[in-house]
Amino acid sequence: MAELIDQIEPLKQTALTELKSAADLAALEQTKGTWLGANGRFTALMKQLGTLPKEEKPAAGKLINAAKVELEAALAERRAELELKAALPKEPTDFTLPGRRRTLGKLHPLTQVTEDIVRSFRKIGFVVADGPEIEDEYHCFDALNTPADHPARDTQDTFYLAKPDGSQPSTLNSQLLLRTHTSSVQIRVMKSQPPPVRIIVPGRVYRRDNADATHNPTFQQIEGLYVDKNVTVGDLKGTVEFVFKELLGEETRIRFRPHYFSYTEPSFEIDFSNKLVKKLGKEWLEIAGCGMVHPAVFEIVGYDPEVWTGWAFGFGIERIAMIRYGINDIRLFYENDVRFLKQF
Ligand code: DAH
Repeated sequence: MAELIDQIEPLKQTALTELKSAADLAALEQTKGTWLGANGRFTALMKQLGTLPKEEKPAAGKLINAAKVELEAALAERRAELELKAALPKEPTDFTLPGRRRTLGKLHPLTQVTEDIVRSFRKIGFVVADGPEIEDEYHCFDALNTPADHPARDTQDTFYLAKPDGSQPSTLNSQLLLRTHTSSVQIRVMKSQPPPVRIIVPGRVYRRDNADATHNPTFQQIEGLYVDKNVTVGDLKGTVEFVFKELLGEETRIRFRPHYFSYTEPSFEIDFSNKLVKKLGKEWLEIAGCGMVHPAVFEIVGYDPEVWTGWAFGFGIERIAMIRYGINDIRLFYENDVRFLKQF
């Protein structure tokens, strides 16, 4: 049956052309089915082989097999081409485009404010001092002229801790607590060195406060202490004014109001005023406590109060950061929400 043999070559050519021109992998699969599938046209040809007379079978079989091998090779080749094409980017790579940048982290707004305050004080000769957050009552209160029965302790008597070995404190004022203010570091520094002293102490403090928009049981303070001969309230005021103007703008004004702290005499509260305060609908905003170091404190640390004079202050960092950045809820500082932190 010459007919069958004559069909092989033209069918193969058509199949090859279709396979080679398949536009994508899906089209290629479809073409494969059309020709080589169970009901494919080439498969049909192979099935007819059985109907041939015996003497024609070998020659026809050989031709068909050779054609099938060729078709399968063409199929594999086109598949490889199309797979590569599918894996390549649709657009050619533009090597002149800017690179992809890794986004950098940022300092926490409280850290930024603290660093700015520290920078200002360094300009006028202050150094940073540090002390423990787990403090004893002696450094936190007693040595600051605030004995156990002093009413000022009520608002600060707060997070007490057991001794690491579980024993009771040997004396009343050696009980451990989380420090309620950075003022305890004044005592530690003065006990460790002779005057003069010019330090600032940024650090975390703890109080028995319920968290709300303006309070948090943990917050940050900055303490300042300056001890030398002939130090006056004028020095204190000039220093505070310099730093606040640097921090909150040239038009910032400050004022001192008489107040009471047991470790300073006289004592003041510092108010300040600027555009930001007026935005809050206020003329003055209370920001810090300060005063001239009490002679009793000097005696406790072994400085002669007849020779040495000094001033000290302490203020909260959150308060300043809130005013500076227009933040209305202190708790935002502690939530670690990147959407908040990214803004500063
Ligand atoms: N320790 C005070 C507080 O936490 C702030 C303070 C007031 C610090 C007067 C001082 C000072 O050094 O002289 O509220």
